[in-house]
Amino acid sequence: MEHKLQGKKIILGITGSIAAYKAAILLRLLVKEGAEVQVLITPAGKEFITPVTLSALSGKPVESEFFVNSNGSWNSHVDLGIWADLMIIAPCSANTLGKMANAIADNLLITTYLSAKCPVFIAPAMDLDMYAHPANQRNIDILRSYGNRIIEPASGELASGLYGKGRMEEPEVILAKTVEFFETKQAYSGVKALITAGPTYEAIDPVRFIGNYSSGKMGYALAHELALQGAEVYLVSGPSSQTINHPNIRRIDVTSADDMFRESVQLFPSMDLSIMAAAVADFTPEVQHNQKIKSGNDILTLKLKPTRDIAAELGQLKNSEQFLVGFALETENELENAQKKMEKKNLDLIVLNSLNVPGAGFNTDTNQVKIIDRNNNVISFELKSKQEVAADILSQIRKSMILPT
Ligand code: CTP
Repeated sequence: MEHKLQGKKIILGITGSIAAYKAAILLRLLVKEGAEVQVLITPAGKEFITPVTLSALSGKPVESEFFVNSNGSWNSHVDLGIWADLMIIAPCSANTLGKMANAIADNLLITTYLSAKCPVFIAPAMDLDMYAHPANQRNIDILRSYGNRIIEPASGELASGLYGKGRMEEPEVILAKTVEFFETKQAYSGVKALITAGPTYEAIDPVRFIGNYSSGKMGYALAHELALQGAEVYLVSGPSSQTINHPNIRRIDVTSADDMFRESVQLFPSMDLSIMAAAVADFTPEVQHNQKIKSGNDILTLKLKPTRDIAAELGQLKNSEQFLVGFALETENELENAQKKMEKKNLDLIVLNSLNVPGAGFNTDTNQVKIIDRNNNVISFELKSKQEVAADILSQIRKSMILPT
């Protein structure tokens, strides 16, 4: 039998949540696939599952203490953080989420997290109201922006007897994501990728602009996912409140469609892959007033002129080794219009966003897309988190694009 995680070094962090019992199953699955697993448990975690069970399953002493380890010597969180290929914190309680997001380093698991050089997966588990609390959601957003991958909890019956979102994702699913991570980890290494993201603001006068509802979430999720898979990413972003922090990502902030056009065209010649995820304004005021327009009783007419189409321009400049992906946002004749757009702009792949699906499109955390390739194959996906949609888009691109070996 093939061991899909043979030779991989994984830290499994376990915290104080009733879902800690599922961590034993996850540990067993990881070990069965050949991984070498070092378990770190918080003091509260030990109230839920005993270190004896975990060390029997991992074949290694479980570490928990800050200063003295199971051999009676200093426990080096720095060494552990360098040793691992991946750190998985499952279950991750609200308490640990908060400490990680704020660098409150009061146990070995947190200090190891803070010094880890490897990617980190975080699988939160808690009651639905706790999970939904803005403080928790803010911490999750912060951790995501640090480049950590959140394995979102599933919905279902919770230990409290309530129903809702908060249940730690099943160990089999976390295992599948771990295997997939190692299989795709280096898929985009050596690839230089340009991503446009967010809205553009077209100035009317010094205090007013024409904008749109795009949050930038889809483009940022793509940048994040590409960086995790080894690409060198150039993220040309319109005004967006999203944050991102990954050594492989260079963010270039722009405001208007014209700024975005210039930055993208300049970067494009050295790019292997370009993904146009921005919601670029199609029109911009013909005149930008230098002074604030005064209020009055007369009808004010703004004259708008068309902006330049970035995707279409890059489609013209493209050589046979470059791969160009666009998005289409349609409200009617979706597939037909998306296909036409792909041809008109000379794209290699187009991602169709539907505004007709609740939970998809602008300013949501989820999206439902169809991906269409140049042979007019249409692949439909379910409603998923934007991070998962990004992973789906990248796996489709991999099927069509010739990647550097
Ligand atoms: N796009 C672009 N530059 C523009 C307008 C659009 O790069 N000035 C890109 C978008 O980032 C997206 C694709 O083109 O990848 C399609 O955008 P969309 O707004 O759906 O299409 P439009 O070409 O603007 O057509 P329409 O609004 O008429 O549907």
